[in-house]
Amino acid sequence: MILAPMQGLTEVMFRRVYEECFPGAIASAVSPFISLTHGNLADAWKKIDDVWPESNLGSMPVVPQILGKEPEEFVELGNRLFDVGYPEINWNIGCPMRAITGKHRGSGILPYPDEVRAVLDSIIPRLRPQLSIKMRLGLRSKEEILELVPVLNDYPLSSITIHPRTGRQMYSGEVDLDAFGRVMPLFLAPVIYNGDICTKGDAERIKRRFPSLADIMVGRGVLYRPTLPLEIAGATISDEERIALSRKFIVRLMQEIKDRMPSEQATMRKMKEYWCLLWKSLPISETQARVVLHEQTLEAVEKTIWQLTQ
Ligand SMILES: Cc1cc2nc3c(=O)[nH]c(=O)nc-3n(C[C@H](O)[C@H](O)[C@H](O)COP(=O)(O)O)c2cc1C
Repeated sequence: MILAPMQGLTEVMFRRVYEECFPGAIASAVSPFISLTHGNLADAWKKIDDVWPESNLGSMPVVPQILGKEPEEFVELGNRLFDVGYPEINWNIGCPMRAITGKHRGSGILPYPDEVRAVLDSIIPRLRPQLSIKMRLGLRSKEEILELVPVLNDYPLSSITIHPRTGRQMYSGEVDLDAFGRVMPLFLAPVIYNGDICTKGDAERIKRRFPSLADIMVGRGVLYRPTLPLEIAGATISDEERIALSRKFIVRLMQEIKDRMPSEQATMRKMKEYWCLLWKSLPISETQARVVLHEQTLEAVEKTIWQLTQ
């Protein structure tokens, strides 16, 4: 099982604490994206703290992800990442945010197979790490991916992860498993499934329906239920154990946030961001959980989280 990239959530602090609490439960992670800004590689390079090898000691293995389509910067950043120890990088052509898609970046490039080909033609011969891709079915239409199959099949990609929604759908509506099933066998590269796996049963259904999948990638499900990767791997965990493990993980993550964040405000914001998802793993009501979000001081946030995790 692969941990999905989630900006602000599955970053290095989370990955290290997760690995400490659940060693080996997640085989690898794709990092939240590092954005290329045309002509400004120095900026992108400064933002690679999240994948800096020393910071990642104790994390599960990670594949850095790049967002952008500027070939020169892509190759330079990719090769620098290779030089510091990354044998694979991932290209994000799935991000649905309008500020990004408007510039034909993220899922904004999906309706333009010629642009995808131009980027790959330019970068593949010069890129030293292996390249994998994370994508959606399209930007506006689920059919867009069909035009991309012959393009992507022309390059030696190490894997293609597909989240079967369109960019315009963002995270709403259902994942389209029929569309995923139609396109999956057309790709030459190994295909990884991503989207809405929140229980062991969800993972089993996906694996049963698509037995030739190379792997599954899980994002929000791990935050809703930190023991999910163990359960998917076949561990039998009672409800009592699950809750105890979730509590331990939440307390440890909150401590790490406190130790690492630069200011009280930043610490409080970060704790609340994680809490929004993590509280669901505890036997508490939404009303109880929301109290944390309304607290105005770090001390109060900590105290309430502490009470709710006892
Ligand atoms: C807050 C948030 C941040 C995300 N950041 C990224 C990102 O940096 N790169 C990326 O490829 N996908 C990103 N995604 C998409 C996830 O990787 C994943 O495709 C999506 O959440 C569906 O999987 P899930 O249902 O298992 O969460 C993000 C999703 C969320 C909710």
